[in-house]
Amino acid sequence: KDVNGVLHYDLDIVNAQHSFFEGIQTATYAISGTYLGPTLLLKNGMDVSINYTNKLDVETTMHGHGMHVPGKMDGTAHQPIAVGARWSASYRVQQNACTNWYHPHYLHKTAPHVYQGLAGMIIIEDSESQALDIPKRYGIDDIPLVLQDRFFSADKTQLDYSPSNMQLSNGYIGDTFITNGAIEPTFDAEAKEIRFRLLNGSNSTVYELGFSNGKNFRQIASDNAFLEKPVNMNRIILSPGERAEIVVDFTDDTGASLRLEEYRYSKTFLKININKNATAVTSLPAQLTTLDPVATPTNSRQFRLGMAGMGVFTINDKTMDMNRIDAALSQGDVEEWEVINDMGVDHNFHIHGTHFRVVSRNGSTAQVLENEKGYKDVVYLPANETLKFIVEIPADGVTADSNNPYMFHCHFLEHEDNGMMGQFTVS
Ligand code: C2O
Ligand code: CU
Ligand code: CU
Repeated sequence: KDVNGVLHYDLDIVNAQHSFFEGIQTATYAISGTYLGPTLLLKNGMDVSINYTNKLDVETTMHGHGMHVPGKMDGTAHQPIAVGARWSASYRVQQNACTNWYHPHYLHKTAPHVYQGLAGMIIIEDSESQALDIPKRYGIDDIPLVLQDRFFSADKTQLDYSPSNMQLSNGYIGDTFITNGAIEPTFDAEAKEIRFRLLNGSNSTVYELGFSNGKNFRQIASDNAFLEKPVNMNRIILSPGERAEIVVDFTDDTGASLRLEEYRYSKTFLKININKNATAVTSLPAQLTTLDPVATPTNSRQFRLGMAGMGVFTINDKTMDMNRIDAALSQGDVEEWEVINDMGVDHNFHIHGTHFRVVSRNGSTAQVLENEKGYKDVVYLPANETLKFIVEIPADGVTADSNNPYMFHCHFLEHEDNGMMGQFTVS
């Protein structure tokens, strides 16, 4: 609703019952629904107030992942929402069109809260995204897909979050894969060219996605902005928290049924029927946007991912401490961050408040994939890889003080909850 020119979303964080399996109600958490939350549709330049009321019996938080908002509005463990309380994230949207999301960020409890169903998409549009000749009819040819995997209790009335120490390290990878809270749902395509907004909303599973007939598609946006040009591919890898917008041309598949598949675990996320009467194929532009050249850093930092004993995860040998600030940055700063994963397990790396540009993998610029050359806020770090990226803090952007700092962390939620996280300020 619109109140004096400010767009309000009033959302309730609730206990709910959701039907994943026919005839069975499973206990979940939800945001104004029965599992997950509504997609929030925002526009660059708009003033918004996203009001969350916590109707759970536990304290939580709600973070806008990918949002460039002041530290106070970031929804981390520094902004808890007490049981029964209401908390508002109020800010002016100041960033380009992209697909973001919201989820809890409670200290040591992000993983279980997300697992129970607390997450939703945030779509930001701008004048560029609205002018481009790309599929953009929400729900018709612009389709959000929140991809997750879950374990259920034997009678399926509960989501089962009980990782072992081994699963904390190696991933808590469920046996049931779900899309927008449904098991292998069917999408009837009414247009021949479909844009899917993919979100890896899992706790700690890396997805490798493609279509059952191996067809090619084009990625048009990564986490935080359009790519300069569409990138052609037939498989895409997304680690937890990463987003990709892809456009698929189903013209040759009229009348067919395809599947969006996950190849590492041989699962189906979505069944797609290409309606015989499907219409409207746009001609995807060759150039989607123009990104600024990667800026020259004036400072560099190194972050080494590690462990300090069973179930204790670290960055530079330190485990997360709400009262410790690991880095103090200023508006306009350009820094090179090197993140080293010399462990035998996969990780990724996410930062709050801004985005970054990946410049090298394992010391090689050639190993940076075409589709990770845009603005990202989470980047995959497979076992024994190192990467460098350039963090740009906007000169006229937002700030975060030591009482309400930003975070950087591994987005494998079991690693984050167990300490693989640090904090930084922007003054
Ligand atoms: Cu998606 Cu710090 O989180
Ligand atoms: Cu975030
Ligand atoms: Cu990790």
